[in-house]
Amino acid sequence: MNYRHAYHAGNFADMMKHGLLLVILRHLLRKPAGFLVLDTHSGCGTYDLDSVEARKTGEWRDGIGRFDTIPEGPVELVDYLHSIQALGPMRYPGSPGLIASVLREQDRLICCELHPEDATILRHNFRRKDQVAVHERDGYTALKAFLPPRNLKRGLILIDPPFEKTDEFDTLAEAIRTSRKLFPMGIVAAWYPIKHRAPVRQFHDTLRDAGLRDLLDCSLLLRSPTDPSRLNGCGLLVASPPYHFDEQAKTLLDALLPILAPDGEGSVEIRQIVEE
Ligand SMILES: C[S@@+](CC[C@H](N)C(=O)[O-])C[C@H]1O[C@@H](n2cnc3c(N)ncnc32)[C@H](O)[C@@H]1O
Repeated sequence: MNYRHAYHAGNFADMMKHGLLLVILRHLLRKPAGFLVLDTHSGCGTYDLDSVEARKTGEWRDGIGRFDTIPEGPVELVDYLHSIQALGPMRYPGSPGLIASVLREQDRLICCELHPEDATILRHNFRRKDQVAVHERDGYTALKAFLPPRNLKRGLILIDPPFEKTDEFDTLAEAIRTSRKLFPMGIVAAWYPIKHRAPVRQFHDTLRDAGLRDLLDCSLLLRSPTDPSRLNGCGLLVASPPYHFDEQAKTLLDALLPILAPDGEGSVEIRQIVEE
């Protein structure tokens, strides 16, 4: 396990993923009944953008670093930027930090993180938050351990693996299938990198062939994915998206795109890859 998210926190991919994550959370928060979020690959929870790791890559400078001030824009963008600003200067939330910041008393967050050091930091970050449970364990096997949620009927499963392994797309597709089977009422959001198009097409075909329904794919490309040695963009596959999420996702990503890819070579696509 070489991947450490501290090197990448606040980059363009985090902005895309976390902006969309907050839109989904806002939907869940509309109803008084509690919900569960299972975050299978959690990282540290929050990050210091002035750390040795963040300074080493400087990736955040081409992400959240481009938003010194909160621009006028759609509510989806402004809401997301406000929640980052609330952490204070040079801080950026990981997915657990963002989720925990909106949880109500009746909601729960289960975090899984396999890297021992990151799991320790994560546990420390949430030591005073009763609604958050941290497990140092494999997030994929956690699906069978924690789904369906006990006592809660609504929820979100966030699957955000590091893509260090060559078969990660297959493992991710299987995890989406398992999540749908164990918790059909739940929303699933799965992040993936776009280096070139072929693996993404194959991923979508695998999901279709598995017979899954109601799949929405959101992608943001910084440039055309012709050079597979670069991270050219990323996607978030959402199963059972909330009502009108497709429109909100388009609005948010269209607002992020000109700032994250100012040379005009990027693009945004929101596509229903399987109907309900
Ligand atoms: C892309 S990062 C997650 C970032 C986080 N979701 C966020 O948005 O802030 C992937 C994380 O998964 C962890 N990891 C790798 N394999 C794992 C596994 N099988 N189960 C749980 N965590 C794993 C890595 O240590 C890393 O912290």
